[in-house]
Amino acid sequence: MTRSPTQFVLAARVLHWLMAAMIVAMLFIGVGMVASVSERHEWLLRIHKPLGMAILLLAVVRLAVRLRHAPPPLPDDLPAIQKLAALASHWLLYALMLIIPLVGWAMLSAGGYPVMLSESLRLPPIFPTNAIAFAMLRHAHAWLAILLLLTFLAHLGAALYHGLIRRDGVLSSMLWSWRK
Ligand code: HEM
Repeated sequence: MTRSPTQFVLAARVLHWLMAAMIVAMLFIGVGMVASVSERHEWLLRIHKPLGMAILLLAVVRLAVRLRHAPPPLPDDLPAIQKLAALASHWLLYALMLIIPLVGWAMLSAGGYPVMLSESLRLPPIFPTNAIAFAMLRHAHAWLAILLLLTFLAHLGAALYHGLIRRDGVLSSMLWSWRK
């Protein structure tokens, strides 16, 4: 009989921590961008777009890793409602990691702005130019980012609850164990 894994596979753990840092940076950059009108706005936007596209690309890779490698099971004694909340919030995070960058890309396309990832790398538009759609996508991008922030905070709270209060191995399943 094969034993259930106690840890996420290495690729899943590396992607988890890399993307956590990128997403937290993105949320700060996004808020910093709309709060500044100086040339810092342009500078932040130049970071925001390629970093957002990198998150989109990594989210696709991460989804493939997740579908290929089953995660370690949650503890048997965890109440069913908490298991359901964990599952729902994890899939919501995957959805937001994919949808928010796509909405950002569609928003710029609808506004008729070129989506430049660098001086020379220009992405094709994914939405027809339309001022009303631009305004709606602009709002959607901001509200989805707020939903991402709230889901991330709930996720962080749950991780600390497992790691510091229940001490049930859920947090360490996403960490590195130095002891053999
Ligand atoms: C996970 C990925 C992303 C996150 C978490 C994110 C987050 C944010 C946040 C928090 C804001 C500020 C919203 C507000 O308060 O109005 C923002 C604005 C914006 N984002 Fe993103 N974003 C992401 C990806 C992208 C991508 C891929 C693009 C384009 C290719 C993009 C383009 C923009 C633009 C143009 C703005 C408005 C800037 C302004 O008003 O000056 N975003 N984003």
